[in-house]
Amino acid sequence: MAESDNGQLPRHVGIIMDGNGRWARARGLHRIAGHRQGAKTVDKVVTACRRRGIRVLTLYAFSSQNWCRPSPEVQALMELLGEYIRQERRKIMDNNIRLTAIGHLDRLPPSTHQSLTELIEITKENTGMTLCLALSYGGREEILAATGALCAELAAGQLRPEAIDEKAFTARTWSGSLGPVDLIIRTSGEQRLSNFLLWSCAYAELHFTDRMWPEFDESDLDKALADFASRQRRYGEVTEHD
Ligand code: FPP
Repeated sequence: MAESDNGQLPRHVGIIMDGNGRWARARGLHRIAGHRQGAKTVDKVVTACRRRGIRVLTLYAFSSQNWCRPSPEVQALMELLGEYIRQERRKIMDNNIRLTAIGHLDRLPPSTHQSLTELIEITKENTGMTLCLALSYGGREEILAATGALCAELAAGQLRPEAIDEKAFTARTWSGSLGPVDLIIRTSGEQRLSNFLLWSCAYAELHFTDRMWPEFDESDLDKALADFASRQRRYGEVTEHD
């Protein structure tokens, strides 16, 4: 099913990958085992989205607030991320995927930051799908960073206040070039956005599933896509006129 075949396929999907800790605890495992299993789901879901013709997939892999977790967990998550980048390199290239990342990436450990930057550079001409990792990311932080950039340009006389509109603002956000997010999926039964893509989700459809991220599979993805296809997107307008 390609985008051109079905206008109801979301162009940009964002996923809040929640429930790793609960999945592990329910099996008597350490939370970190849940993250490890969650990384395997990432691999499967990226391939599944690529096959279905999703153009942009943004994964909420580590929030700004996640730095406050116990340091062994933070360290394990950073290691998993580093492993993912190193191990998936070949597959990402073979699948013609362009990797990108949003967030305060300078806060990542230097070795992770370096392998991430390298893979972003190597894959930058790929056209099959864009995979965006939200790392050390927060939606409010993104809005603040864009505001700061606009203020700096105003102060330097490079921008006039009248020129500030949605387009100008979007262009200064980390995720601006990805286009608005059409569908946000959250696993684990929680129903909130948790600071994810706040600016670009203005008209996103939301799909919540009780499945924990480590057990989320292709059929769950297909349910989310079918749910999206059944929605009527009106963007504040009406569909029928008297
Ligand atoms: C939320 O589950 C998940 C995270 C904070 C991290 C997500 C990370 C991964 C899926 C693995 C590594 C990522 C990549 C891209 C390789 P939680 O720990 O908050 O779960 P809980 O709510 O059940 O405690």
